[in-house]
Amino acid sequence: MRTGDGRLLVAALDTSTDMLACAVAWWDPVDSADVSSPAAGIELLASADHLCRRRANVELVDTLGRALTQAGKTMNDVDALLVGRGPGSFTGVRIGISTAKGLACGANIPLYGASTLDACAWVAWDAGVRGLVGVVADAMRGEVYPGLYRLDDAGATRLFEREHVLKAADAAAAWAARPDAACLQLTGDGLKRYGRLFEEVGLVERVDESLWHPTGKGLLYTAAYAARHTGRADTCDPALVLPVYTRLSDAEENERKRLGLAESANTVTTGVADELAGRHLQVRPMASADAEAMAALEAESFEGAGHAPWNASMFLSELDPNAAAARSWWVAHDNGELLGFAGGMVVDTDIEILDVAVAAAHRREGIARKLLAHVSYDAQMLGCTTASLEVEEGNDAAAALYEQLGFREVGRRRDYYGTGRDARVLQASLPLNLPVDPASPEPTAAARRAWPLPEPVRDADERAELERRQLVLAIESSCDETAVAIIDADGTLLANQVSTQIDFHARFGGVVPEIASRKHVEVIVGVVEAALEEAAASLGFAGGPISPRELAAVGVTQGPGLVGALVVGVAFAKGFAYAADKPLICVNHLEGHLYANLLTTPDLKPPFIFTLVSGGHTMLVHVRAWGDYEVLGETLDDAVGEAFDKVAKALGLGYPGGPVISRLAETGDPHAIEFPRALNRRGDYRFSLSGLKTAVTLYIEQEQRAGRPIHLPDLCASFEAAVFDVQYKKAKGALRETGACEYCIGGGVAANPHLREMMIRKLSRQGIRVTVPPQNACTDNAAMIAVVAREKYLRGEFSSFDVDADPNMTL
Ligand code: KG4
Ligand code: ZN
Repeated sequence: MRTGDGRLLVAALDTSTDMLACAVAWWDPVDSADVSSPAAGIELLASADHLCRRRANVELVDTLGRALTQAGKTMNDVDALLVGRGPGSFTGVRIGISTAKGLACGANIPLYGASTLDACAWVAWDAGVRGLVGVVADAMRGEVYPGLYRLDDAGATRLFEREHVLKAADAAAAWAARPDAACLQLTGDGLKRYGRLFEEVGLVERVDESLWHPTGKGLLYTAAYAARHTGRADTCDPALVLPVYTRLSDAEENERKRLGLAESANTVTTGVADELAGRHLQVRPMASADAEAMAALEAESFEGAGHAPWNASMFLSELDPNAAAARSWWVAHDNGELLGFAGGMVVDTDIEILDVAVAAAHRREGIARKLLAHVSYDAQMLGCTTASLEVEEGNDAAAALYEQLGFREVGRRRDYYGTGRDARVLQASLPLNLPVDPASPEPTAAARRAWPLPEPVRDADERAELERRQLVLAIESSCDETAVAIIDADGTLLANQVSTQIDFHARFGGVVPEIASRKHVEVIVGVVEAALEEAAASLGFAGGPISPRELAAVGVTQGPGLVGALVVGVAFAKGFAYAADKPLICVNHLEGHLYANLLTTPDLKPPFIFTLVSGGHTMLVHVRAWGDYEVLGETLDDAVGEAFDKVAKALGLGYPGGPVISRLAETGDPHAIEFPRALNRRGDYRFSLSGLKTAVTLYIEQEQRAGRPIHLPDLCASFEAAVFDVQYKKAKGALRETGACEYCIGGGVAANPHLREMMIRKLSRQGIRVTVPPQNACTDNAAMIAVVAREKYLRGEFSSFDVDADPNMTL
């Protein structure tokens, strides 16, 4: 801990490139304040920098351990952490940052971030290079992160504002065009792949190749320089340290393009387009299923509208693929409720906006603007150069909106809305003026607070209570939920926090892996802290949140799932457990879904049959003993949850599909439509859902073509019946064949009330005891991970710190 002389023991890490950079050093803020001597105040005790391609998550914590040992220190002695924020390989940067966040939280010490590009420049500086230096960091896919620096005895000074990404050839051309290009010396790992492009334009000077990567020492110089010149080295709250992003995920960049918004390059903070996510609002093309709701909204907002109200079949006819003129219709909805729509028809090079309506309670939220953005974008794609519409004279609110978008009056239609009621014809050239929606929430910035956190104050009773309870904290980050739970040795859940990212994925109709990873990095510290607070509250502790050192162990989902998402949880958990000096426990997510049943039936005992139905898996399992699984059958194609999501997407119901479909199915007739049941032979425990999915899509298309509105409740109920029938028959067969008399179920689809009710009703009749997990423990959560982690804790099954995420884990 802190020495009396004001020096800080700092551990520096960076995994943004193939170099695993790691150093331990004394940093003396007083000596380091000397502007004329950049190296002053840093005393390197150990460095363990080494190349380690794609193995950063495996090696990072142990490498740090080795460096500390070499320095004669332990994690307990570390006063502050420093991490490279990139830019670099996305996953690499996230491994370093997540581990560092875990370490900082686990030890309750400051975490500073530093630019990896700067660190690279300082590596050259430290080796005595002086003059103009260009760092070329590899950004993959033909791109680089370029950074220009002036190196002199006072240090390495940036000649650019923000990190950015460029095509390698463009970066080379830009530098070659500089008047001082002749004295430019290049460094950076991007030269390995793209050095030739720089050579071709005459940039041939190179810093020695052994200096092309960042090092721990380089990071230390970077941070010391920042502290010296700005008074502080970035923020020190681990919640606020984020990777340096140079752009949004591809999905969001494409969407911004679609919406005609500015490129993100200079606005990226959290790395995710928070302002695009809205709260729940989703905008998507109109589907036939929307027609009824559109007609209702039309009727509601008819007053003042510029035309006779349209009915459902008029809206439906707009979808006719054989219509003479091209159409574009978009709807905005929130959780299945239609909030607005807009549509238009292409006439030559003009899109005539036919209708715009927004529910009264949702006006002034920017919905009309969003809808028009989509319609006008489509129009441009269809070759239009202008958009036009009519507003009644005197409808100033509407006219004001349209004027903001660039519409100007080009004519009038006398008595268009009835005698004495003229229409103003407005026209705008495309693209429309579309500012970022001011009604959308600002990017989520974690609240500023004092860090490190105050240590808890415990009396003897509370300490005894903690000793007795043996709290296990568990982290889940395999998909689009960041979740943390805390359980005690008796199996009592003391905290259960879930931060869902659904809003950020919904508008893409499914989970976007890059967004998922970014959101995990952004929120993980907050979710862990919320769980530590909740647990203290559950225990009635007055002396502050549970501190990491008061836990007994740390569990984490190791797989299966999205690799970039899993990595964040695993890296964080390793840093957290290591710094708090607690054992690490790796949990199989699928086992989590199974063990969720123990929350309902603590005395559940194998052998039994278990059905796993989630977004990624469909399995029928004979659980012979805990940990002894015989997988009787799996899906050959889509998982059950996936089928729900795809059908919902086809119906334009948004993502995720399960909850919407099950709500709609409530009032439907499961016998209304006969959908196929695949692989229905006795003794065959495999599943196949792609045929059913196709049958549903064909049905939708056929009805649309015939101009018939789809009866959503019937369709959903019939789809569910087809899925669940098969699940029931196979479960029944497996129970009979194995002689097991217990049955349980798990996974997101197990939250479906009809599936739960049917299994309980039908199987109980046959003398089977049926368990279903609590409904909120079916979709991804950390409570179920905590249940498994607790079991493993009691058995002493711990993992070493060189484990990595395993996206392909199975039961
Ligand atoms: O277990 P989970 O949260 O994530 C994975 O591990 O995959 O499962 C998510 C899946 C999604 O496909 C979602 O549509 C589905 O579970 N789901 C449902 C329901 N709630 C969620 N499916 C049917 N009915 C529901 N009520
Ligand atoms: Zn799951």
